[in-house]
Amino acid sequence: MSDRERVPGLLRVLSGERIDPPPVWIMRQAGRYLPEYRELRTRSKSFLDFCYSPALATEAVMQPLRRFPLDAAILFSDILVVPDALGRKVWFVEGEGPRLNPLIEEETWRFDDVQRGLQRLAPVYEAVERIKSAIPNDIALIGFCGGPWTVATYMLQGQGGEKERARRAVYERPADVDALLETLVEMSAQHLAAQVKAGADCLQIFESWSEGLSPAQFQRVIIGPTKKLVKRLRELGVTVPIIGFPRGSGAQLGAYAHETGVTALGIDTQTPAAAAIAAAPKGMPLQGNLDPLALVVGGEALERAARDVIEAFKDVPHIFNLGHGITPDATPENMARLIQVVKGGV
Ligand code: CP3
Repeated sequence: MSDRERVPGLLRVLSGERIDPPPVWIMRQAGRYLPEYRELRTRSKSFLDFCYSPALATEAVMQPLRRFPLDAAILFSDILVVPDALGRKVWFVEGEGPRLNPLIEEETWRFDDVQRGLQRLAPVYEAVERIKSAIPNDIALIGFCGGPWTVATYMLQGQGGEKERARRAVYERPADVDALLETLVEMSAQHLAAQVKAGADCLQIFESWSEGLSPAQFQRVIIGPTKKLVKRLRELGVTVPIIGFPRGSGAQLGAYAHETGVTALGIDTQTPAAAAIAAAPKGMPLQGNLDPLALVVGGEALERAARDVIEAFKDVPHIFNLGHGITPDATPENMARLIQVVKGGV
């Protein structure tokens, strides 16, 4: 095997090469659709404690890799370890989702400093080291963080759902929101740099709540902070590729792709491949965008939908993935079938 062939396919595509069949990984590939994950999850009462256990996090990463011939592993953690590290308590309500104490109800917004935050996240970097030595060399390891705005929405409102209260804060307390985003940019840059130091081969920024913003707000809370985050990472000496995933950005996708400095673009479910290709700079690697619901339904519908995605991105450097995370009601059998279809085995 030549040295070139030893470079993981995912990294080759991230450097602009087109590969057939495309490399594949699945957002949230470790998780509740796997019975062995549900079993493992019972070993820790709180989800964050699970994330902060290097042994459990490593095992969660390995589970999907044992079942499916995936081209990448993603660190098992959560985007909300960042506010937790900044001293904003985070907890998960069973069947509902994450909770924080909402900043919008507080007069003065206070956070612990970034260096202290990084110390709290030491178990995450230990997990990255363990995962890196546990996976084969031809599988790329992806580190990640939430986009500054997505993390800010949870901190502002204390939960997900409608983002109206977070968006109101951008109008009502602009200076406070800017300061919050600055803190998140610095914390996220240091957090990602530490993951790369521990062994991550590339990075993804999950900007899951890019939707519903006016163009001016999109510029202020998404493009500006993401651009700073990428710049800060490069200043810190991080050279690895960065996938930006601005879910729901719609007509702002092109501006995000051109202005933030990300290497590659994650495409969400609703965006037509042709629109993404036209919006992105020529030759930019694109990742996506099978409807997660197809993995729940399975059968012919899944196969057809998967082939449509492959066909739609056939002329650009493409990483096969979903348009959002796999859901707990998807089945391991459907996942196996999907990977087979992508790999061209059927
Ligand atoms: O992709 C992977 O396999 C890596 C692990 C990962 C998790 N969360 C594990 C997790 C990643 C990359 C994330 C990112 C994340 N977390 C995002 C961005 C991606 C997206 O889906 O939009 C967001 C918005 C969060 C915040 C968060 N954490 C939510 C909304 C939830 C779901 C709450 C629920 O109960 O449905 C979580 C919890 C969470 N993060 C779970 C997992 C496997 C499920 C909780 C559990 O297993 O008990």
